[in-house]
Amino acid sequence: MLQGQNFLKETDFTAEELTYLIDFSIHLKELKKKNIPHRYLERQNICLIFEKTSTRTRSAFSVAASDLGASVEYFGMTDIQMGNKESVEDTAIVMGSMFDGIEFRGFKQTDVETLGKYAGVPVWNGLTDEFHPTQMIADFMTIKETYGRLEGLNLVYAGDGRNNVANSLMITAAILGVNIAIAAPKELFPAEDLVKQAQAYAEESGAVIRLEEDIQKACQNAHAIYTDVWISMGEEDLMEERINQLKGYQVTAELFEEADDQAIFLHCLPAYHDLKTSNGVYFKEEFGLEEMEVSDEVFRAPYAKQFQQAENRMHSIKAIMAATNGHLFVP
Ligand code: CP
Ligand code: NVA
Repeated sequence: MLQGQNFLKETDFTAEELTYLIDFSIHLKELKKKNIPHRYLERQNICLIFEKTSTRTRSAFSVAASDLGASVEYFGMTDIQMGNKESVEDTAIVMGSMFDGIEFRGFKQTDVETLGKYAGVPVWNGLTDEFHPTQMIADFMTIKETYGRLEGLNLVYAGDGRNNVANSLMITAAILGVNIAIAAPKELFPAEDLVKQAQAYAEESGAVIRLEEDIQKACQNAHAIYTDVWISMGEEDLMEERINQLKGYQVTAELFEEADDQAIFLHCLPAYHDLKTSNGVYFKEEFGLEEMEVSDEVFRAPYAKQFQQAENRMHSIKAIMAATNGHLFVP
């Protein structure tokens, strides 16, 4: 039912279609665990273009494609002419004539949209400055694996409320009927037009969207508390400003006392939870920080599901590639 479609942002799909992708991901995870072959993209060729670095997304696309029987070609920005000697439009036409699907991770949402417009094959957004849609299928899959349902649950996102992950979470939650509270200082609340868009979806789905400066209040009765890095890729110059703005928004064990008894911690990763690494020495000396967006205690707690979430990137990207390339999953 999703054959030939792009996944550039969450609003490309209806609630029913997003749910279908989540359920298909859960099914594919079972097949993988039972070692049952699912080579739905046999003889296909997948193109991966990365303008920014990645651990999970690149690995997930590569392993998922391999399990599905497809080949993968990876392009970092020093490998490809795009955006340098050649326009995004021309690159899209060329890549689309050879490959059966294209993943793009980069800065501008307009670039992935241009690829999607001209490639003629499915284009998947592997993260831009605005959205991280493939991450959403893994995240809501992880919540569904925990609770067996999504509608009516309370999700909290604490931290930079204007970044790609926050934007995507707010929109996806609104579409799927999951209540979401964004806990952030006012200046890092999501952009007004995006909140309006989310509210329009929420009216349909029954979700409640809240913007909260008080993180404690935001976490009351939460079923999942989610955070992301305070400084996203490409924003390194904002380090000091962000740390000062977000110091009070670290996810700590005390917040889980406000939350539902079964509440889980989520993080898309990578995380700054323990600054004892070489990078950490820099943060520690420069900013006096031991931990950033999440305490090490929470990160290592039994209710922390970030590694399940990371594994789910692979199962969900497999579902996204298979579904948009014509495989029909019958639940
Ligand atoms: N969560 C995520 O997208 O991780 P990577 O940046 O490692 O791909
Ligand atoms: N907001 C983060 C997400 C990383 C997966 C970033 O853009 O760097």
